[in-house]
Amino acid sequence: MKRRTFIQTSVAGAAALTLSGLPLSAKSYRRILGANDRIRCAMLGCYRRFPALLEGLAGAGNVDITYVCDVDARRQEAGAGRVKEALGQTPKQEKDMRKIFAQPDVDAVFHATPDHWHALGSIRSLQAGKHVYVEKPCSHNPREDEMLIEWQKKTGLAVQMGAQQRSAPETREIIQEIHKGAIGDAYLATAFYTNSRGRVANANKVPVPDYLDWELFQGPAPRTDFIDIVGDYNWHWFWRWGTAETGNNATHELDVGRWALQVKYPKEVYVNAGKYHYKDDPWAMYDTMDATINFPGSKTVKWDGKSRSGHPTYGSGRGTIIYGSEGSVFINREGYRLYDREGKLIRERKGGPEEGTALGGGGSMTTLHVKNFLETIRGRDKLNCPIEEGAVSTHLCHYANISYREGNKLLAIDAATGRFCDKKVMKKYWSRDYEKGWRPDEV
Ligand SMILES: NC(=O)c1ccc[n+]([C@@H]2O[C@H](COP(=O)([O-])OP(=O)(O)OC[C@H]3O[C@@H](n4cnc5c(N)ncnc54)[C@H](O)[C@@H]3O)[C@@H](O)[C@H]2O)c1
Repeated sequence: MKRRTFIQTSVAGAAALTLSGLPLSAKSYRRILGANDRIRCAMLGCYRRFPALLEGLAGAGNVDITYVCDVDARRQEAGAGRVKEALGQTPKQEKDMRKIFAQPDVDAVFHATPDHWHALGSIRSLQAGKHVYVEKPCSHNPREDEMLIEWQKKTGLAVQMGAQQRSAPETREIIQEIHKGAIGDAYLATAFYTNSRGRVANANKVPVPDYLDWELFQGPAPRTDFIDIVGDYNWHWFWRWGTAETGNNATHELDVGRWALQVKYPKEVYVNAGKYHYKDDPWAMYDTMDATINFPGSKTVKWDGKSRSGHPTYGSGRGTIIYGSEGSVFINREGYRLYDREGKLIRERKGGPEEGTALGGGGSMTTLHVKNFLETIRGRDKLNCPIEEGAVSTHLCHYANISYREGNKLLAIDAATGRFCDKKVMKKYWSRDYEKGWRPDEV
């Protein structure tokens, strides 16, 4: 079937589910699944993040993994092997995700591909009537965030962004308390991240290896020659595919900050960011950033990001500090500490640490987040990070990146719409250049 016909048919299929004019309700997801509530899942992208999501699916139970998909044949094969090990199931293998969306034996699609594929893959999944778990950041540019929200609304399907701290019981508990006034009026969230990432090896243009489909890897990104370092995490550090350290890591803690302060779109953003380490390596972005995001009502979310300096500034590699008129809270993936205004510890709660967060993540938060997604599809829960929250938090990362790309410029934002006030900035950065025929809005 031609792509255009396929998408139209799929959209019609999804629309048929909502003939009442109402979005598909949790109850109706359940009816579709059938009596045993078993959910058939496809997993896209079979490398670093894959084991954590697989562990989540195995831990949640009552699932069939019907497909694994990777454009790298070695990783796809290894992914299928891991599924066999974890669940005793033999998934079908397919390197082109678009073919999977057309299959009836898929209810939900897990997207753990590089960032430039997230929105396009998720939108095509929704158009085909599949629920979506999309890794953070959910998009490569702000327009894709908007489109994801639009398609979720159109289809009524479940779309969860992989900001798994939204499912951590300790974080959920303290955020609720902050909302009830535990630290008075919460006005500032300082999110931070440190890592000691090394030099990126020199990039060489080499023939595309026979195990890789470079055309499919690139997907919506404009075509370029294959370079040997791209497949090994380094796609993160090129604007063509990645979203820099904000999209890679700040997305988690900026989301916690925005959630705690109960703010949506800001009124301005500015950063001080630069590349201070290994200046001559191919890493194309800043490696250090201080971002300030000001919201209406005198509320601020900051990000202190150091990708290549391992000093644990706030006594932890990553986390968020929330300041209020009557006290403060330190929250990270291991729990929280609540302090009064004098800085005296009032209460501490520890949860299970999430292991291996630098590469791939995993652990209980991810399992809880995956379970929350599946239980929502079954009509027994509500998403902890629905796309309308995930996409707004991802916007914050794009704002910071765009301020940096404009020379660390202060950018004014219309807090009602989330869009930049400067038309030139909107034109240049709101969307991206897509490879012809690969635009998410090209149906
Ligand atoms: N929530 C978290 O804590 C967390 C942790 C790690 C990574 N992530 C996110 O997960 C995503 C994947 O990260 P990663 O570290 O696993 O990257 P990775 O490079 O290790 O793996 C991505 C895999 O996707 C494959 N791929 C590329 N294009 C594809 C396509 N069109 N179809 C199918 N497969 C394709 C690649 O070949 C690769 O094997 C990223 O967006 C990252 O931000 C989230």
